[in-house]
Amino acid sequence: LRIIEPPGALRGRRVLVTAGPTYEDLDPVRYLGNRSSGRMGVAVAVEAARQGAEVTLVLGPTSIAPPAGVKTVRVRSAREMHAAVTAEREAVDAIVMSAAVADYTPAGGAASDKVKKQDGGLTVTLERTVDILADLGRWRADRPSPVLVGFAAETTDVLGYASRKREAKRVDLIVANDVGQPGAGFEVETNIASFVTAEGVQSFPLEAKAALAARIAAYIAERLAATADG
Ligand code: CTP
Ligand code: CA
Repeated sequence: LRIIEPPGALRGRRVLVTAGPTYEDLDPVRYLGNRSSGRMGVAVAVEAARQGAEVTLVLGPTSIAPPAGVKTVRVRSAREMHAAVTAEREAVDAIVMSAAVADYTPAGGAASDKVKKQDGGLTVTLERTVDILADLGRWRADRPSPVLVGFAAETTDVLGYASRKREAKRVDLIVANDVGQPGAGFEVETNIASFVTAEGVQSFPLEAKAALAARIAAYIAERLAATADG
């Protein structure tokens, strides 16, 4: 038997990846969620580990199994995800925000007792969650490290929205997905993506999420190698 060394472009690097949806509780039995499976982020975590990185995966509530060989921190809400990311951010070389973080949560938090039905409709007031990626961009300010990668799932003007998000959140790379097309988005094994960076746009064909994950790992490795103290 021979020990097969991993390819190792990320050997010695630490990478934090978020994946999955967040659930925002309305009361002890109900929540607001979304259809993210976490597959894309798990693929990034697996690939970064295969390339030799020490990976922490912050995983929202999804039924897919956390991958072996990756330290996994389970979270439920956007608030918990923000806390988990903030606790790790100083220690890592790159952060990939693939989670589908809720934009809104019930104002004032979850009701402590089950909400009982009444005649007529129900109005729930929601408030904004923290934008975790934008918070990371503000915190990093003008430093090159950690490398920050976000996603943008769009149905129209994909590259326009993605490039505005990249600038507003002050991140290095936005992986833009056209989720309006078949073969892209939440419940499939494939994606149709473009990389939006300060240098421009690079578009890729329909491909497996694992193949896109390899491109993201390669981007991070190159970016780290390019920074002076890399
Ligand atoms: N994101 C985040 N925290 C949030 C919302 C989004 O960190 N509260 C991150 C996502 O993980 C993703 C990126 O921001 O990497 C873009 O998410 P997206 O939902 O596409 O964009 P938003 O800025 O939330 O804008 P909108 O949903 O209105 O398109
Ligand atoms: Ca959003």
